[in-house]
Amino acid sequence: MMQNERMSILFVCLGNICRSPLAEGVFREIVTANGAQERFLIDSAGTGNWHQGKPPDRRSVEVAARHGIDLTGLRARQVTRGDFDRFDLLLGMDGDNVATLASLAPPDRRGRIAQFHEFSTGMPRDVPDPYYGAEDGFEAVYRMIRAAAGSLFEKLAAETRGVSG
Ligand code: 4NP
Repeated sequence: MMQNERMSILFVCLGNICRSPLAEGVFREIVTANGAQERFLIDSAGTGNWHQGKPPDRRSVEVAARHGIDLTGLRARQVTRGDFDRFDLLLGMDGDNVATLASLAPPDRRGRIAQFHEFSTGMPRDVPDPYYGAEDGFEAVYRMIRAAAGSLFEKLAAETRGVSG
């Protein structure tokens, strides 16, 4: 990462309809609230392709909306090999996502992969898959993502603060 360059971050889960769109939306909201939009490029993707082209799960859209974040414009896509070149950082929501990313990545790109919660806070915790769970699972996932995304911003803001920042 050179100073004054945008840092690019890809949030990754299994379906790209529940957790990673929420992480994308929450992190973008934090970045925007801090006036740092010019310093970050933010996206999300899934390791699976079942939901390709679909908007986020209604329950993720609703929990985000309750916290003032609009996810309705997002569409699911699968991780591609090109993502390992395009993104400085690929953050998996759980250990399975991280393992799948590592198996897909060219060996010289594996250092770009990390577990979202561990990288952000120093505490290794999975963001649990809420897809088959109850509605309140989404609020719990939102809170976990919110806290970790705040830590992530603090951690990266220092690294991306160039001479103009
Ligand atoms: P996500 O949740 O990985 O947080 O988007 C899931 C969404 C769909 C499925 C699994 C997890 N699925 O099996 O279809």
